Amino acid sequence: MRITSSTKDLPRLRADLVVAFAFEGQGVPAGIADRALRTALAGVLRKERFRGRPSDAVLWNASAARRILVVGLGAEDAAGRIDRLRRAAMRAARKGLAGRARSLAVRLPPGASAEEVRAVAEGVCAGSYRYDRYLTDPEARHPGIERVEISSDVARHEAQGAAGVAEAVGRAVAAARDWVNEPPSRMTPVHMAEQARRIAQEAGLAIEVLGPAQLERLRMGATLAVARGSRVEPRVVHLTYRPNGVARGGRRVALVGKGVTFDSGGLNLKTGTSMDHMKGDMAGAAAVLAAMSALAQVGCAIEVHGFLGLVENMTGADAYKPGDILETHSGKTVEVTNTDAEGRLVLADVLSWAHKTARPHAIVDLATLTGACVVALGTQCTGLFTRNAELRDQLLAAAEAAGERTWAMPMIDEYLEPMQGGPADLRNTGERWGGAISAALFLAEFLPRDVSFAHLDIAGPSFVERDSPDGAQGGTGAGVRTLLRWLAGP
Ligand code: BES
Ligand code: MN
Ligand code: ZN
Repeated sequence: MRITSSTKDLPRLRADLVVAFAFEGQGVPAGIADRALRTALAGVLRKERFRGRPSDAVLWNASAARRILVVGLGAEDAAGRIDRLRRAAMRAARKGLAGRARSLAVRLPPGASAEEVRAVAEGVCAGSYRYDRYLTDPEARHPGIERVEISSDVARHEAQGAAGVAEAVGRAVAAARDWVNEPPSRMTPVHMAEQARRIAQEAGLAIEVLGPAQLERLRMGATLAVARGSRVEPRVVHLTYRPNGVARGGRRVALVGKGVTFDSGGLNLKTGTSMDHMKGDMAGAAAVLAAMSALAQVGCAIEVHGFLGLVENMTGADAYKPGDILETHSGKTVEVTNTDAEGRLVLADVLSWAHKTARPHAIVDLATLTGACVVALGTQCTGLFTRNAELRDQLLAAAEAAGERTWAMPMIDEYLEPMQGGPADLRNTGERWGGAISAALFLAEFLPRDVSFAHLDIAGPSFVERDSPDGAQGGTGAGVRTLLRWLAGP
């Protein structure tokens, strides 16, 4: 998809679908100079009882060659305005896709900013995503939205810059969604590591891929234990991004992604429906790999290390068992009390290895870690867990700018106690209540206390069960935009 920018007004925009926005109570989108068009559009919107609320949308077939979609933005005040624009643009693109549009032109309200151009471009990318590579009916396969023109009053070079960044971010988000959507028997740890090799090549990243022998040597006993019930080998991937022209020894960040390519639960087997979307249990690794792929394009000026912990959690004859005691890379031992709490085991190894090899100033993991986090925050919100106030504020600001709902959760030290006192240093599960918090506390045990560490539990927002006007069924790319905002250049 190509995104270009212009300053054309509505009547001069040419595309299969032309999109305009209106605030609540405005009657007709502001800034349409052409009087005849304005009057005709006002009449259509009145007849359709369009009020400009965020869920309002009217499609007007102005002529055989002109289809105009007006989408509501809600109140005209500034609060959440960028986010509302992003979501409205996403809905518009979804409509365009449904109407088989190949090109889209979007007119922003007068006085729009470059940030709003970026938000609309990101929204269009998200809304035009589709996953149809396995549909055999050519009618059902959409040719795709190939051209998008975003028109606004923003100065041309500024608007083009914003659209260009959004296009790169959009491509990364779509890649993460593709990886999540791919069937689990294809998207194995080995295959995901191959994807990482391809990305490293394309994006100029250094890459190291560890297989069972190296994991053995590094004493990553927890990762190896989880992998034992599967026929496919585990992989741990380390990618490195070094910005051009920045001296070594500057600020460094490490990202760690949970990459359980299928989570059956292991011997503590999941029930039927709770296994339904467990191909998406590698969404954290997908988000990390996707973000790594776009660091250069968003102008990231710091060194970034990406780590992927890739395993399949199965029930094979050699599967690890409740009661097993594992030695993690850190040297700490863990008693398995539930084989379905596998993500934290993999992350325990990979977090401590990431810290040891990259010596980052901050380390952030993304993981579809707990159902408890989904219970707490629902399907549209990421849980943020950290003891570091500065890192918390940075990540919340990045998430806010990215339009990804994220909520800081408490780290309640006492919740670690049920995990202590057994035959090993830790058990891998705590009390039932507050399960997202105890999982986060468990992870933090594998890093020194003075390391800035944050954990993002994306179990809720990483996957959508059903198509809706707000998004396609399947992977969402949750976390990618937040990471890229956080790591972007000045
Ligand atoms: N991958 C799951 C968490 C999950 C649940 C992700 C729902 C997406 C949607 C994780 O490995 C898991 O099974 N967690 C257990 C932990 C429990 C055994 C302590 C859970 O949440 O039930
Ligand atoms: Mn599990
Ligand atoms: Zn899992």
